[in-house]
Amino acid sequence: MKKIGLKDIDVSNKKVIVRVDFNVPLNERLEITNDKRIVASLPTIKYLLDKNAAIILLSHLGRPKGEIVPEMSLKPVAKKLSELLKKDVKFVSDCIGSDVKNEVEKMGAGDVILFENTRFHPEEKSNDSDFAKELASFGEIFINDAFGTAHRSHASNVGIAQYLPSAVGFLMEKEIKYLGESLKNPERPFTAILGGAKVSDKIELINNLLDKANNILIGGAMMFTFLKAQGFCVGKSLVEHDKIELAKNLMNQSKGKNVKFILPVDVVVAKEIKNDAEYKTVQVTEIPESWMGLDIGSKTAEIFKRIIMKSKTVVWNGPMGVFEIKNFAEGTREIAKALADCSGITIVGGGDSAFAIEKFGLQDKITHISTGGGASLEFLAGKELPGIAAITDK
Ligand code: 3PG
Repeated sequence: MKKIGLKDIDVSNKKVIVRVDFNVPLNERLEITNDKRIVASLPTIKYLLDKNAAIILLSHLGRPKGEIVPEMSLKPVAKKLSELLKKDVKFVSDCIGSDVKNEVEKMGAGDVILFENTRFHPEEKSNDSDFAKELASFGEIFINDAFGTAHRSHASNVGIAQYLPSAVGFLMEKEIKYLGESLKNPERPFTAILGGAKVSDKIELINNLLDKANNILIGGAMMFTFLKAQGFCVGKSLVEHDKIELAKNLMNQSKGKNVKFILPVDVVVAKEIKNDAEYKTVQVTEIPESWMGLDIGSKTAEIFKRIIMKSKTVVWNGPMGVFEIKNFAEGTREIAKALADCSGITIVGGGDSAFAIEKFGLQDKITHISTGGGASLEFLAGKELPGIAAITDK
């Protein structure tokens, strides 16, 4: 179902509240180390500026647990946004109260204000209706462009939508298009590549993909739970012992559903997760007792690459190995390169795999890299996200 979008409502000369996800990483000097999420919000903000709207931006940053935590202030974000927009962005040190109201009353067409972290108030997370109503009182229209937060039912992204005419922003529309619509009726062959540490984090995603994908390629530490389920000795590799039966079940289901469920044939093993640790590539049938698997091997990467290159739609969620460490990064790098070279639609489901794509400098060669972490995982798993559900269908 299509949602009411920014272009479906008249925002000209109006006070528009935009919920963005400016939950960006900061270093100890409180400098932004990755501005991807701020950059991703620019199309919506620039469109509103073109329409002479006055823009009030709401966001959270971190998990301050309903208290004022100075290190989680959005102040550095206002500065960054101002540089990116090449215009003044006023920072207001709260998101409710009389001072905020005064600042909003002074706003004129084309002004941009960023309120302080909504999570400094406990009412944000509890989706308190009075808090949501007060937030809504500052504007005439609400735009939700915070895809990264869409899996949370909070006051500034869900509660507020009850009190104002609401629509989704351009980033949200793009995320819905690629993670939602294009995977409903994917161009085939449709291949999903799944990695990361735990099967337990991906059960719903795998279940959803079993009904849709032609190929499911498994890497990352979660491959060892599947390999163990097939009866292999996996040495000291990470295994979720309580998920072995489930792993067996998922593989059995794939047979009935005509999905190719493909596990690695070789892995890179080491005795420690350190770059100076001795390491080697072995067949999955030959993982030594006291070694642990930390990446897919080169033969596996070749097999995966061949499947990816033949696919018309590819979705990737989760790295193939411990790619932060050079000796265990090759599998993830090869898969990232294969996605970059694939001529089909390529979608990267946020979080660590998005970070890997950026690390290898391939972000311009991917159709869509989600700005969501948990949100993209839940969306790909087929769940309804409250932040999207709160906006009326077209
Ligand atoms: C994210 O970074 O995934 C979003 O901003 C949501 O943050 P949260 O997990 O703290 O709700």
